[in-house]
Amino acid sequence: MRKGLFITFEGADGCGKTTQIELLDKYLREKGFDTLLTREPGAKGLGVKLREILLNYDGEVSPVAESFLFLADRAQHVDCIIKPALKEGKIILCDRHTDSTVAYQGYGRNLDLDRINYLNNIATSGLKPDSTIVFDIDVETSMSRVGKNKDRMESAGVEFFNRVREGYLEIAKKEPQRVRVINSSDTIENIHKKVVELVEKL
Ligand code: TYD
Repeated sequence: MRKGLFITFEGADGCGKTTQIELLDKYLREKGFDTLLTREPGAKGLGVKLREILLNYDGEVSPVAESFLFLADRAQHVDCIIKPALKEGKIILCDRHTDSTVAYQGYGRNLDLDRINYLNNIATSGLKPDSTIVFDIDVETSMSRVGKNKDRMESAGVEFFNRVREGYLEIAKKEPQRVRVINSSDTIENIHKKVVELVEKL
């Protein structure tokens, strides 16, 4: 039976979520909570291999094939890492999950959203995050944070990232109970405070 808590962190590349997850992880550990900090794609093992292809393969990649690779990583991650940790009662802090596929492959690559949701559901065997925080930031700022050394996904262009951002805001509109949006153009300390406020309610 499920005992822990599953929180996912989402947003476009360069939104600052990785810094915030690490700060939250430290905060929760200091309070004595048992946490698992993990990520998609590429938490461990097979996922690391899939991540390497997803971020660095330099030939043509079809959007559907790309989706299946992210979904394969997710299925492996849920079955082998997330579910066992939930059973142990851990607080799972997951850097990207199902909403990334909706925002990037659905909105970004223009794939059918119902199909993405259906496939996400298969990859997770129906497991849903208890809560999701989206770090929202304008594309110009996030792209300048990413810098010049871009991986395959980060090289997708400004229009793509505008659609990704729009996608995240739509997801939050559709599921306001689960998904909260934090303005990520504030200082690291202020954003951390907002994250802690949201997580303490859980
Ligand atoms: P990563 O370096 O982990 O990015 P970040 O630090 O911004 O989280 O790279 C993951 C990339 O893969 C990122 O560009 C988002 C993208 N992605 C998808 O397109 N679909 C997905 O389902 C997931 C999980 C990630």
